[in-house]
Amino acid sequence: MKKSIGPDKIRTAIFISGTGSNLKNLIKFSSKRNSPISINLVISNKKKAKGLKYANQKKIEKKIVTFKEQKKAEKIIINLLKKRKIKFICLAGFMKILSNNFLKKFNGKVVNIHPSLLPKYKGLYTHKRALKNNDNFSGCTVHYVTSKLDSGKIILQKKIKISKTDNENTLRKKILIEEHKLYPRAINKIFI
Ligand code: GAR
Repeated sequence: MKKSIGPDKIRTAIFISGTGSNLKNLIKFSSKRNSPISINLVISNKKKAKGLKYANQKKIEKKIVTFKEQKKAEKIIINLLKKRKIKFICLAGFMKILSNNFLKKFNGKVVNIHPSLLPKYKGLYTHKRALKNNDNFSGCTVHYVTSKLDSGKIILQKKIKISKTDNENTLRKKILIEEHKLYPRAINKIFI
């Protein structure tokens, strides 16, 4: 995709389902003068997603679209995105698998962050699984999204050492710190 900085920042939507620490971090990143993206819309499939407060704080438009009927939900979202001329989508703790039909419309423009060294540990409970297998390393990955769970082309990955004293909670925290550095770097890699 084309380099774009300044008033012509790439209009971006962030999709969340929960806490939104990556959303908060991406909002901060987008507000930097040399960031290639602006965040123009936040979509949550959960009404009570804590992360929605960050959209409120920065007066970013937010929409809640529940996925009880996925086809309908995706249609609504496609309309929202088109009307707002959104060109790029970042999934940030969004816990739904988008359909091929949706992704075709935003071909190669949807990215995700995942808390493991993909292709290891696709799906849920990544930290628990890494610890259970006595892995020495874990990390996080930013990748393009396809309709196959956590399987698209990798953009960037960060590896961290698991220490003997780590538990699920400490490992999650350690990896989140790295996620917050990796996501902006991956976006810069795509656009700059
Ligand atoms: C993050 O660790 C993110 O990598 C993970 O959910 C967490 C969301 O945290 N995403 C996935 O597992 C997607 N497969 P956040 O709401 O604080 O950004």
